[in-house]
Amino acid sequence: MITNEEFQRIVLYMKKKAGINLQEKRVLVSGRLDNYMIRKGYQSYSEFMDIVEKFPAGQEAQYLVNALTTNHTYFWREYEQFLYFKQVVLPKLKTREAKSRDWRIWCAASSTGEEPYTLAMLCMDYLGLDYSNWDTKILATDIDTHVLEKAVKGVYSKESVEQLPKQYVRRFFKETSDGQYRVTDELKEQVIFRQFNLMNVLPFKKPLHVVFLRNVMIYFEEETKAKLLDQIYDAMVPGGYLFIGSTESIGQGKSRFRYIQPSIYRK
Ligand SMILES: C[S@@+](CC[C@H](N)C(=O)[O-])C[C@H]1O[C@@H](n2cnc3c(N)ncnc32)[C@H](O)[C@@H]1O
Repeated sequence: MITNEEFQRIVLYMKKKAGINLQEKRVLVSGRLDNYMIRKGYQSYSEFMDIVEKFPAGQEAQYLVNALTTNHTYFWREYEQFLYFKQVVLPKLKTREAKSRDWRIWCAASSTGEEPYTLAMLCMDYLGLDYSNWDTKILATDIDTHVLEKAVKGVYSKESVEQLPKQYVRRFFKETSDGQYRVTDELKEQVIFRQFNLMNVLPFKKPLHVVFLRNVMIYFEEETKAKLLDQIYDAMVPGGYLFIGSTESIGQGKSRFRYIQPSIYRK
């Protein structure tokens, strides 16, 4: 159904808009969009793309981005990093920010929320009763509005929350009448979800202490990655921590970040 020319038009659009390289992903593109084209009565992909390009902030443009991002995530993913965050990073932050009591943590491709909610649980657990005296809200962003909606709802399946340590499930979730698990209001308040495209200029006024940028750079080309990492570096406090996905790299020697251990770097 999709022609070569139409496919290339979508590849170019997604690269420009979201940094995502879909050149080798023709099956994925048509697999995720063919039904939509039929359902909406488009005669061709060109007709659809004409609308997307004419209204870059419109519904169809957002639909395209939502459909072509890959949002796979799960609770406690690459959990060694979470342990490092709690056991090494948080104690350092607590000492360093003893006066300001303000931590700035950014989860930069938060998908359906499992990752930022986990970071909030770890912060609350670590600070214990002192928690309410600190401003430790986590900023969680994604380009995909559909996953952000799900994240804000904070409702997950039983199988999904069972990946977490049991004491976290008990403390931070309530079972719903249909057997799902909803994050408590207390936890929800600790995470701010916003739409943000990593191709845009970073909006931070105050420097960040910790950035989680996991499993998103795999979709970007080297040049896009390097530019983004450069911006993130400049947006962090000296000594700030960057976490990336375990299958990702930041391009040895090219980045200013200092290697600490696999997938963990410091400014
Ligand atoms: C595979 S998920 C990773 C989720 C989570 N960080 C993890 O490691 O489990 C990648 C996320 O990156 C988001 N994403 C892709 N391109 C983006 C961009 N240009 N700006 C912001 N988010 C983007 C996708 O929408 C998707 O939700």
